[in-house]
Amino acid sequence: MRTSMCAAFLLFALAVEPETVSSDNDCEHVRLDVALVVDSSSSVTRANFKKTVRFIDAILRQLPIGPDDVRVAIIRFSHGSDVMTYFNDDMDKDSKRKAIRKMRFNGGTTATDKAIKDLREKVLDSSHGNRENVPDLVVLITDGASNNMTATVIEANILKQRPDLRIVTLGIGDQVDRAELRVLASSDREMYEARSFKKVRSFVEKILQWACLAEYRVPPEKRTRATHRATSTTAAHRETTSTTMKAPEKETRCLLELNEFRKIMVEYLPDARRNRSRGTSH
Ligand SMILES: *[C@@H]1O[C@H](CO)[C@@H](O)[C@H](O)[C@H]1NC(C)=O
Ligand SMILES: *[C@@H]1O[C@H](CO)[C@@H](O)[C@H](O)[C@H]1NC(C)=O
Repeated sequence: MRTSMCAAFLLFALAVEPETVSSDNDCEHVRLDVALVVDSSSSVTRANFKKTVRFIDAILRQLPIGPDDVRVAIIRFSHGSDVMTYFNDDMDKDSKRKAIRKMRFNGGTTATDKAIKDLREKVLDSSHGNRENVPDLVVLITDGASNNMTATVIEANILKQRPDLRIVTLGIGDQVDRAELRVLASSDREMYEARSFKKVRSFVEKILQWACLAEYRVPPEKRTRATHRATSTTAAHRETTSTTMKAPEKETRCLLELNEFRKIMVEYLPDARRNRSRGTSH
C-alpha cells in the first residue's frame, strides 16, 4: 500500500515541471500589513489626486485582502493627516476599495513628518489591527518635498527602527525631492519616480512586487486555520527508521521521500534542460 502510494506521488512529481512543484509565484497567499500614505497637498491638484486614487485602487484589486491575509490602512496627508481606514476597519477588499474611492483631495502643505508620526503612533498599533508577528509594508506616495526635511528624516528613522518593516516610496512629477525620498525608502531598490501622474499606472506592478515577496508568502501547510502539527526533525527521523509504522507515519515517510525526490528533480531537471537546449542550439 505504502509503496504504491509513494509510486503514485513520484509519478505525479515526474509529470509536473520542477518549477511548478517547488514554488508558487503568486500573490494569493501573502500575509502582510500594508499602510498606504498618500500626499494630498495643494501641489498635487484635484485632478491628479483622482489619478492617485485610481492607482491605489488598481493595487488593492490585485491583493488578497482579508483579516488573515493582507490588511490595509490608508492615510491621507497634507498639513495634517487623516486615517481613511485602519487595518481593523471593515477588513474585506470591497470595503477597502470603497474607502480609497471615497478619499477626497484636501490641499494644504506637505507635513510628511506628521504623517509618518501618526502612522507609527496611531496606525501601526495593535489597537488598530496591526499584527505584531506580521511584516509591515509602508507605501508612501508624494509629489514634492516635505515642509521640514529634518523633521521628516527624524520621523523616518524612528519608524525604521521597527522590526520587519519596509518602506517603498513613489515620487510623482518634477517637484519631487529625490534625496528625501531616498532617505525615506528602505533602500534604493524601494524608491520609484514617476515622471508625471499620467505615467503612474505603470508603477502598479512595481509596487505589487513588494507586497508579493516570497518572504511574505504563507507556506501551504499554514494557509488554513486548522491546527497543523509540524513534524520535528527528530520525530521524522524516528519515523523513517521505525519498522512498525502506523498509518499516519507511513504518510509522513512517503512525504519525506517525495521531498527528497523533488530536491533531486529541482537540481537535476534544469541542468538536463540546459544541456538539451545547448545540444540543439549547436
Ligand atoms: C524642523 O524640524 C526640526 C526637528 O523637529 C525643528 O527643530 C525645526 O525647528 C523645524 N524647522 C522649522 C522651520 O519648523
Ligand atoms: C550537463 O552537462 C554537464 C557538463 O556538460 C555535466 O557535467 C552534467 O552531468 C550534465 N547534467 C545532466 C543532468 O545531464
